[in-house]
Amino acid sequence: MKKVDVILGLQWGDEGKGKVVDVLTPAYEVVARFQGGPNAGHTLEFNGEKYVLRSIPSGIFQGGKTNIIGNGVVIDAVLFREEAEALAASGHDLTKQLCISKKAHLILPTHRILDAAYEAAKGSAKIGTTGKGIGPTYTDKVSRNGMRVGDVLSADFRQIYARAKARHESILRGLGYEYDIAELERKWFEAVEYLKRFNIIDSEYFVNGCLAQDKSILAEGAQGTLLDVDFGSYPFVTSSNTVCAGACVGLGIAPNRIGEVYGIFKAYCTRVGGGPFPTELFDETGARMRSIGHEYGAVTGRERRCGWLDLVALKYSIMINGVTQLIMMKSDVMNDFETVKVATEYEVGGERTAHFPYEIGDDLKPVYREFEGWKCDLRDCKSYDDFPAAFKTYVEFIERETGVPVKIISVGPDRGETIVR
Ligand code: GDP
Ligand code: IMO
Ligand code: MG
Repeated sequence: MKKVDVILGLQWGDEGKGKVVDVLTPAYEVVARFQGGPNAGHTLEFNGEKYVLRSIPSGIFQGGKTNIIGNGVVIDAVLFREEAEALAASGHDLTKQLCISKKAHLILPTHRILDAAYEAAKGSAKIGTTGKGIGPTYTDKVSRNGMRVGDVLSADFRQIYARAKARHESILRGLGYEYDIAELERKWFEAVEYLKRFNIIDSEYFVNGCLAQDKSILAEGAQGTLLDVDFGSYPFVTSSNTVCAGACVGLGIAPNRIGEVYGIFKAYCTRVGGGPFPTELFDETGARMRSIGHEYGAVTGRERRCGWLDLVALKYSIMINGVTQLIMMKSDVMNDFETVKVATEYEVGGERTAHFPYEIGDDLKPVYREFEGWKCDLRDCKSYDDFPAAFKTYVEFIERETGVPVKIISVGPDRGETIVR
């Protein structure tokens, strides 16, 4: 029985999903995004070019593959159009390669404004969202007020829109939030027309039809497990299920159809926006990770907070997702570090725990294990055997602790800088 392999982030996003999806795509016929929206920024580098994808699956550059935007995704027609047109200008016409689920929800101009208004209302407790309207769009989906891609084909489209807009405007009035929607709205209606040139499909039938024909499918996650609305560091999370189960719901595939679960993590840890981050570094070492790793948001350009690898959180993510293979990214960023640390436990109120807690308070302190740095350029290594002993010790410690093999090690942003064991 053909299965769907899933690739997803195990930390707070930006693990390098875009790069790895691109590397793995040659082995698949279909690549599908299952949740999130333009809050994602997935970077791919090859032939000296760099691309950042937000809503479009990262399989789009490996010619001839079908790419699907699944029902679990939320789409901003304006940002989608910008993304698709930029790709077309660089010679990648997507209209034949890309299918969009009728059941994917639309991000309306007022959703973006609501996102900003809710953040402003939270004051210092704000989430630090990407400002793309993600939360308000998923809220409307769950409260049964959303607009879906399929609605763009309906004769009642304008009326459905007007009702949603009126509802949003009454909330905005209540919040006393000033805004100007005219330009955004004009662009949005034009972009909705543009959307119609793509294949708008019943993606759940398409995906299951592919499986019935023995076609291989790779499901691409966005964000990361610690941003999952159920299992992440709530309320500092995104509004979708970023975990493996999200692939079932976001594409319409049965749980027994999940095959390999590739879990991606950085050799250290980053987070952008607010919320707890136990191993965060506020010192020179964190600043070095940021500058060497170019840790700035692919979409917002915001500084990413940096810290050591957190095995308590990583093991939690592996458990929730049923990870079968690990993929370790950006080890090269720590090439010159004298020592490298990993949190193996937390200390809370004098007690040690290996559990990712319900609430991460200020009294939580990570317990670290220290490793000797590898002090060499990992980019020169072409196979696992070429890696220095100190680096192998680091990798094999993670494997022993997690019980999951590290199958791919990425040593640079380029497609080619990837070592598959
Ligand atoms: P995604 O959201 O998970 O796809 O990750 P992002 O694209 O937001 O962030 C990952 C960043 O790290 C991008 O700028 C990548 O080009 C870069 N990158 C990916 N893998 C590596 C690696 O192994 N080494 C280095 N130095 N950079 C990498
Ligand atoms: P990729 O797919 C990193 C974070 C935001 C904020 C929180 C909620 O590139 O890994 P939202 O706009 O989703 O309501 O913001 O989630 N966030 C991400 N952080 N990578 C992402 O995506 C993210 N998408 C959202 O910074 O803290
Ligand atoms: Mg990203």
